[in-house]
Amino acid sequence: MPRKKLWGGRFGADEDPFFAEFNDSLSFDRELLDADIEASMAYARALERAGVFSRKERMEVEKGLRTVLEENRSDPEQILRSNAEDVHTYVEEALGKKVGALALKLHTGRSRNDQVATDLRLYLRRKAELIGDALEQLLEALADFAERCPSVIIPGYTHLQRAQPVLFSHYLLAYGEMLLRDRQRLREAVARIGIMPLGSGALSGTVYAVDRTALARDLGFSTPTENSMDGVSDRDFVLDFLYFASVLMMHLSRFSEDLILYNSSEFSFLQLDDSIASGSSLMPQKKNPDALELVRGKTGRVYGHLFALLTVMKGLPMTYNKDLQEDKEALFDAVRTVENCVRMIRKVVENMRVNPERMMDAAKKGYLNATELADYLVSKQMPFREAHTLVGKIVVRAAELGITLEEMPLREYQSFSPLFDEGLYEFLDLSRAISRRSERGGTAQTAVRRSIRLLRKQIRTGVARHSRGRAD
Ligand code: ARG
Repeated sequence: MPRKKLWGGRFGADEDPFFAEFNDSLSFDRELLDADIEASMAYARALERAGVFSRKERMEVEKGLRTVLEENRSDPEQILRSNAEDVHTYVEEALGKKVGALALKLHTGRSRNDQVATDLRLYLRRKAELIGDALEQLLEALADFAERCPSVIIPGYTHLQRAQPVLFSHYLLAYGEMLLRDRQRLREAVARIGIMPLGSGALSGTVYAVDRTALARDLGFSTPTENSMDGVSDRDFVLDFLYFASVLMMHLSRFSEDLILYNSSEFSFLQLDDSIASGSSLMPQKKNPDALELVRGKTGRVYGHLFALLTVMKGLPMTYNKDLQEDKEALFDAVRTVENCVRMIRKVVENMRVNPERMMDAAKKGYLNATELADYLVSKQMPFREAHTLVGKIVVRAAELGITLEEMPLREYQSFSPLFDEGLYEFLDLSRAISRRSERGGTAQTAVRRSIRLLRKQIRTGVARHSRGRAD
């Protein structure tokens, strides 16, 4: 059946059904339904202020829009039974069934170009709030975990080689810092999302006395866009979000990778809960960390969406072009993916159990206290470079003997240097190595306790560390 199009005036031939399917966006842009109705209600109020609608007309339109919203809430699939080409057309048609010709009047001075740009901002503002909340909950979960194991020691790695001992809580808080920066990046994106293109018309502005500043305020935007051409064709705010999402996913992916390793039987530093792992159809002994593998894997598609939109925007002529319809599936999928991944990681963290003995075992075996031994020699006035070389030789000797540094007898040490005495063993103690690093940012318990306090405060206040004069 040929469709009656809202732009059908100048068209003679019927629309090719394959083209119609190719062109339509309703199947995905129905995500924007709430936003489209919210923006339309505010626009009706702006048209009343501009003298286009009488008060009675405006009230009728608003009531009609509310009914459309409610009907769709109770039956979310009904929108798919319509043959509208996109969500904006759908709302106009559905409103038409409630209020007749008034529905057409709502489009006075408005184009789908400024409409879709506005809807997308409203949608993203709401989603950003939910993702922000989810991120904060994950940050709290990390802080809670760090607080629950204040003295658990883990080997810290560089090059995936055991390097120096650190507190497990310190390790977790490293991810806390990353996610806190993500939270801040999201806030910065939200500030740029919060600008209103409505009233830009198709591209050149509106001839109706729509008070755009009042309209922006009504919709909770900080200000209207300054240039109508930019207003309808700008998608920087989507890119900002996708960049935020990509960096966040990169962080979650690194964390996933760590936890997958630490959960493996080779490490056995921790155990993921059965409830978030799955089995193998063939090998009965397997418990696979699927949740984390999926988070790591889904990072790829979020990066993909960022690059897809950057590529769509590159070479786009001014102003609106249908290419822009391609922003939606990328954005919607990124939003869903990020929301789910943050939630999934929180569940993983909340339910994982650490194995402090295994962690300590690994920390004891890799000569992680070799730096301490060098520091000991430095305390006896040996220059650090010299101490470094000497300790290197001592480590080789200990490895030959198949013992740890603390197991090596004093006379063995003294064969390397007369500076060694009984006091060296104190330096080799891992807890001592940790507690010596008590300067801000270090792994000592006191420093970590302070970091947890600061992290919690920053989750609550939303103040980024870099923008503060003092930390607390
Ligand atoms: N579905 C379209 C989109 O997502 C809405 C805007 C259509 N505007 C137009 N001039 N055809 O971009």
